[in-house]
Amino acid sequence: MIKQFLRKYWYRYALGILVLIFVDLFQLFIPRIVGQVVDHLKTQPNLDYVSTMVAWIVGIAIGMAILRFLWRFFIIGTSRRFEYMTRNFLFEKLLSLSTGYFDQNRSGDLMAKLTNDLQAVRMALAQGVVLSVDASFMAVMTILFMGRVVSWRLTSLASIPLPALALIALFFGKLIHKRFMSVQRQYSSLSEWTEETISGVRIVKSFAANDKIHYLFNKRSFQNYEAAMSLAKVASLFFPLMMLFASISHVLALGFGGPMVIKGDVTLGEFIAFNSYLGMLTWPMMALGWVLNVIQRGRASYKRLMEIVQEKPQVEEPEAPVEIKEINTVEYKNLTYRYPGTDRWVLKNVSFSFSRGDMIGIVGTVGSGKSTIVKLLAKLYPVERGKIFINRVDINDISSVNIRQLIAFVPQESFLFSDSVLKNIAFAQKDIDFKKAVHYAELASVHDEIESFDHGYDTVVGERGVTLSGGQKQRVTIARALYMEKDLIVFDDCLSAVDPETEEKIITALRENYREKTMIVITHRLKVLKDADLIIVLDDGKLIEKGRHEELMALNGMYARMFRKQMIEEELESE
Ligand SMILES: Nc1ncnc2c1ncn2[C@@H]1O[C@H](COP(=O)(O)OP(=O)(O)OP(=O)(O)O)[C@@H](O)[C@H]1O
Ligand SMILES: [Mg+2]
Repeated sequence: MIKQFLRKYWYRYALGILVLIFVDLFQLFIPRIVGQVVDHLKTQPNLDYVSTMVAWIVGIAIGMAILRFLWRFFIIGTSRRFEYMTRNFLFEKLLSLSTGYFDQNRSGDLMAKLTNDLQAVRMALAQGVVLSVDASFMAVMTILFMGRVVSWRLTSLASIPLPALALIALFFGKLIHKRFMSVQRQYSSLSEWTEETISGVRIVKSFAANDKIHYLFNKRSFQNYEAAMSLAKVASLFFPLMMLFASISHVLALGFGGPMVIKGDVTLGEFIAFNSYLGMLTWPMMALGWVLNVIQRGRASYKRLMEIVQEKPQVEEPEAPVEIKEINTVEYKNLTYRYPGTDRWVLKNVSFSFSRGDMIGIVGTVGSGKSTIVKLLAKLYPVERGKIFINRVDINDISSVNIRQLIAFVPQESFLFSDSVLKNIAFAQKDIDFKKAVHYAELASVHDEIESFDHGYDTVVGERGVTLSGGQKQRVTIARALYMEKDLIVFDDCLSAVDPETEEKIITALRENYREKTMIVITHRLKVLKDADLIIVLDDGKLIEKGRHEELMALNGMYARMFRKQMIEEELESE
């Protein structure tokens, strides 16, 4: 990533570094001029000379201001560009990864990579470059000026404490960073915890858990305070310590340089210049210690970013994909499956097939693999060759985009974005067709409720808006799937939060409207499936029964038992 970027933008860095070197050089001339002015004043006081020199210094200062702007523009500006381009690239990469990746990586961790780690790499590309130039070039040049212009002996004596500055910067830099990170961690843990508690405040209250929760909050908040204090301690010690060592240099300079001036080995002007140089040398020494930290952090973070870059989608795309225009037949052949990275078989030798226009019911105990069956069809997880076929083509030979263009999926957990109802229904569509949205909301039996909201279809829902009931959310997600008008629609237990009558009404209405399309209905309410063309019954990953409702009743197995039990429950309820 960095290599490609530098290959494209190296000239901006080269320009920035060149300008930076010029600034450093200019800076070095100022003490020398001041020194010469002093010496000149001593021997032949002359106002004209002073004003020329003042003009020079002002000129150099203005020139330096412009150049300083320029190096910041080139070096820091380019690092910002890197940050922008890389963040976009990483986000796109994340979207391209399979769902399995997000099962295994927490969103908090991914967020940290896109923010903190990227920031650390950017710092290495900005501060890191500037500090390296200052630490190397500036240090060497300053020492050269001090030695050549004034005295090598004095330079070496006064420089004795300087390596300590670099060491202090290195050591404290590490310590400050460590404590800073700990403050950040504490803080994000505190805010994550607080956010979760506030979202779950209804549960907290209904369990009368205020005191306990307050105690836990206080504990976290106190840890946060302690971390901040321990950072403040080292940070407050850092600069005074640097200043102390820098003054030792000045003491040495004065102690050894004073007699030299008296003896006439160096002039007063030279001595003044020397002291300015010594002051200027503090910075490159600090930079030297600091830059090692910045680069080390940048490297560690870069490695973490590369983990995302090098991640391959679990679902491989075919090299020469077969294009399908519609879904006519679907066949599962002896499908045995376990999720990537796990070793428990969740589907065992499952075979069944159906064709266009069918309504398929999938029922079974909890965790028996119902959702897995449909997720695999949509290629959300990788599956072996020779197991699932669409139109007799192995799904591994069809691109996932192609398949998902034809399948609409209403997932088990309804998720709405913080946006208007209308935009949620017409999710990710360029042009929004209001009439169409209303039509499908009606089909999903949610239109009347949407109309009753304060702003109707423009009502904002989700985190930043109105809270919908579980059943309302489920039906809006159904409308969203219908809106896309695809060939095959999967309803994964997506009406569990509405009453049985409404579920039946919705499924029947959909069936009436979708005779020519294929529907897969996963449900716990068997009555809904009376007219299904095929019902498959799963138990612990095994397909134990399949057929139409009447056939399964005649079989008198698990399905028949479950069905009779539900009928009795229903009668009891209606009494
Ligand atoms: N992403 C995943 N990674 C690993 N294991 C998974 C994953 N998703 C589901 N499983 C496991 O696969 C098994 C089947 O899960 P699945 O969600 O298909 O069941 P289900 O029949 O839909 O259950 P429910 O009725 O509760 O929705 C479960 O034991 C579950 O723990
Ligand atoms: Mg499920």
